[in-house]
Amino acid sequence: MAFAARLASTLKAGMVIHLCGDLGAGKTTLVRALLQALGHAGRVKSPTYTLLEQYEAGGLHLCHFDLYRFRSEEEWEAAGFRDEFNGRNVCLVEWPEKAQSLVPQADVEILFEILPSGRNITIRANTETGRKCLKLLPN
Ligand SMILES: Nc1ncnc2c1ncn2[C@@H]1O[C@H](COP(=O)(O)OP(=O)(O)OP(=O)(O)O)[C@@H](O)[C@H]1O
Ligand SMILES: [Mg+2]
Repeated sequence: MAFAARLASTLKAGMVIHLCGDLGAGKTTLVRALLQALGHAGRVKSPTYTLLEQYEAGGLHLCHFDLYRFRSEEEWEAAGFRDEFNGRNVCLVEWPEKAQSLVPQADVEILFEILPSGRNITIRANTETGRKCLKLLPN
């Protein structure tokens, strides 16, 4: 939650963030804390069944995807997901590997691991936008 608050302060419109890690590793928990840090007061439910939940918070429009149950390219087009990666929305994507050829490249990738005691996250910037974001991370 502390990391999510730090990350929230660095987000810019249009960023794509991939959240990778096993079932239950903490991806949704991070998004929930991020939205709360941005001032969202309502519920944040996992997009397990809807695949996409959207929010307005902190002056940003955020799209939270969970592609675990995602099936086909047709579904991607039909749901209009392509249009959400429009350079304005902040897109947070759980299970991006389930739609590998369709999901745009990540500016920032967060890898979650469950350790025998606690959790570990690894954060990687893949683009200039991502590198700028990570440089802005407060201590
Ligand atoms: N850093 C953490 N430390 C301890 N428990 C955590 C942590 N992050 C998440 N949890 C707990 O683990 C459970 C699963 O977390 P979460 O739903 O965020 O996982 P997920 O990665 O989104 O899983 P899925 O792939 O199924 O969507 C929740 O009960 C949550 O409270
Ligand atoms: Mg989840």
